[in-house]
Amino acid sequence: MKSDPDSYESQVGALAPANAIDLRSDTVTHPTPAMREAMYRAEVGDDVYGEDPTINRLEELAAEKVGKEAALFVPTGTMGNAIAVLTHCRRGDEIIVGDRAHVYLYEVGGSARLNGSPARAIPTLPDGSLDPARLRAAFLGDDVHEARTGLLCLENTHNMCGGQALSPEALHALAAPAHERGVPVHLDGARLFNAAVSLGVPASALAAEVDSVMFCLSKGLSAPVGSMLAGSRAFITEARRGRKLLGGGMRQAGILAAAGILALTEMVDRLTEDHANARRLAQGLAEIPGVQVAPESVQTNILFFDVLDDAGQPRNEAFTHAAAALGALFSGGDLGAIRAVTHYGISDADVERALQIARAAVARATATATSARH
Ligand SMILES: Cc1ncc(COP(=O)(O)O)c(C=O)c1O
Repeated sequence: MKSDPDSYESQVGALAPANAIDLRSDTVTHPTPAMREAMYRAEVGDDVYGEDPTINRLEELAAEKVGKEAALFVPTGTMGNAIAVLTHCRRGDEIIVGDRAHVYLYEVGGSARLNGSPARAIPTLPDGSLDPARLRAAFLGDDVHEARTGLLCLENTHNMCGGQALSPEALHALAAPAHERGVPVHLDGARLFNAAVSLGVPASALAAEVDSVMFCLSKGLSAPVGSMLAGSRAFITEARRGRKLLGGGMRQAGILAAAGILALTEMVDRLTEDHANARRLAQGLAEIPGVQVAPESVQTNILFFDVLDDAGQPRNEAFTHAAAALGALFSGGDLGAIRAVTHYGISDADVERALQIARAAVARATATATSARH
């Protein structure tokens, strides 16, 4: 259960009935009927020539939403983060990143493979921020023996920290030591709008603290494909070259951008429903004996919990398999906890049903443990 919970390797879907409640990730969301209609009608052109009017519109809208000069439509969040490294860093520059960040754990070592940029990983704190002393000590480049630091990479909301949202003030405190040294800051904001909605601030207030930001259209915002990378006009002009290098020039992709426009105009405010459902799910789980969860720490649409047997031994994997067989899918985190993510495809009724299934799955998982000991 230590692989990327948003990847195929962690899927237990094969165990589940067809109508299973899918809490593995918000990446499983399907496009809305309005998105499908807009995709059908989308005006398109060759985006590598800059001639796709729908992509151009999406890029302008995205830049405006995050308060940056320009934005670039990219196929995935992973590619957006990789392009940020390619664009900000010289070859061989180090990047500073938290040791529980998606960029560090689950992006195939892209900064090193694509740009020769090693990751200097420093401890991620439980709220998704970074240890301040370790951060200050991590900047290199004054000494001839050292690689230069080319980038600080932050994450908001923080996936492996259970969707914790960093406020503009918290982001400022993290970005300031980098900016004091002339080091740019990139934000992996795959779920930036979850953070903004949860904190009650505009996404632009979060992006204001960083030089570039990536956010996903294809997670809680329900578009089928696509992420945005935003920054200064000069940064995005160069990023366009990085996208081409990685094979991300997608031609008539206005078909996809049409869904992205609706993701940004119609799907942001409803994220509060996902956050309320995550909180309700955590509260219900807390009532099941054997489940360890902290409902008060749930801020957005992600929560982690553990299932323990009577002897206090973890039964997370047995629980996940039992729940899948009963019709509720969960995934896992980097430290072995069970992850649940609420999204557009999860209703209030699904949460209640998932709780019933969780109760039965805990009983099965812990009974298996008891019988295995005898
Ligand atoms: C925090 C975070 N960053 C980046 C990504 C990568 O996005 P994508 O799956 O579109 O490559 C993910 C995906 O789950 C994520 O959770």
